[in-house]
Amino acid sequence: MKNVVAPVKNVVAAQDAFDNLCNRSLGVPGIGLIHGETGYGKTTAVTYLFNQVNGIYVRALSADTPSSLLGRVMGELGAQPMARTARMVDYILEHMSMYERPLFIDEADYLMDDVKLLETVRDLYDCTEVPVVLIGMDQIARRISTRRQFFNRISEWVEFKPADLEDVQIAADAMLDDGIGIDVDLLDELRRQAKGEMRTIAIGLDKIERLAKANELDCVTLAHWGSQPFKNNR
Ligand SMILES: Nc1ncnc2c1ncn2[C@@H]1O[C@H](COP(=O)(O)OP(=O)(O)OP(=O)(O)O)[C@@H](O)[C@H]1O
Ligand SMILES: [Mg+2]
Repeated sequence: MKNVVAPVKNVVAAQDAFDNLCNRSLGVPGIGLIHGETGYGKTTAVTYLFNQVNGIYVRALSADTPSSLLGRVMGELGAQPMARTARMVDYILEHMSMYERPLFIDEADYLMDDVKLLETVRDLYDCTEVPVVLIGMDQIARRISTRRQFFNRISEWVEFKPADLEDVQIAADAMLDDGIGIDVDLLDELRRQAKGEMRTIAIGLDKIERLAKANELDCVTLAHWGSQPFKNNR
């Protein structure tokens, strides 16, 4: 399979939202939130975005403190963490502003447990006004709405939805090796069994492609596939 990001609807929505953040009018706040269930493709979409804009990407950890999170941002900037949090903030602010480098924080659910962490991120945004994008699971949208000062700075929300048949088709077109096709009935069965989750869809497409190669098939149908599962651990 090709190692590409398929332009499914969630990816396009994330791209549009990010473009809006970058091109927003004066006075419109610049924090974005991407949320949705596990395996829907959030991290993949964000990887695609930040690579285009030389963004800074960090993953929050459950044990994070402001100092440890900022230390990882420093690492992404190619610098060593510093002993004093305030100095790291200064350094990061300077880099974000000077080079207009948006900040992406994945697994941002972990920020919700700690007001200090959330305030640190808000400081980075307020002092630079460079876009900051948080990526989290479904609960994040509800939890963030209780943090008013943060919530009010969010101007773009994207909820990742389960892939529909059109998305599975787009993924197959983008990811399968040239010369291999999948019949629409089999794509729909994959969508149904995967419940629209991109992680399982990617695994299923890979397995179908192997079957096509092993049997020299140009187009794999439901009849070729039979009733085998798309994932081994079902
Ligand atoms: N647009 C896409 N194009 C190609 N592959 C994709 C796409 N979206 C997701 N995938 C595949 O699905 C896998 C899971 O996606 P990803 O890790 O982005 O999900 P997630 O929403 O971040 O999940 P989690 O909440 O568990 O972190 C990826 O490793 C990749 O193989
Ligand atoms: Mg992820």
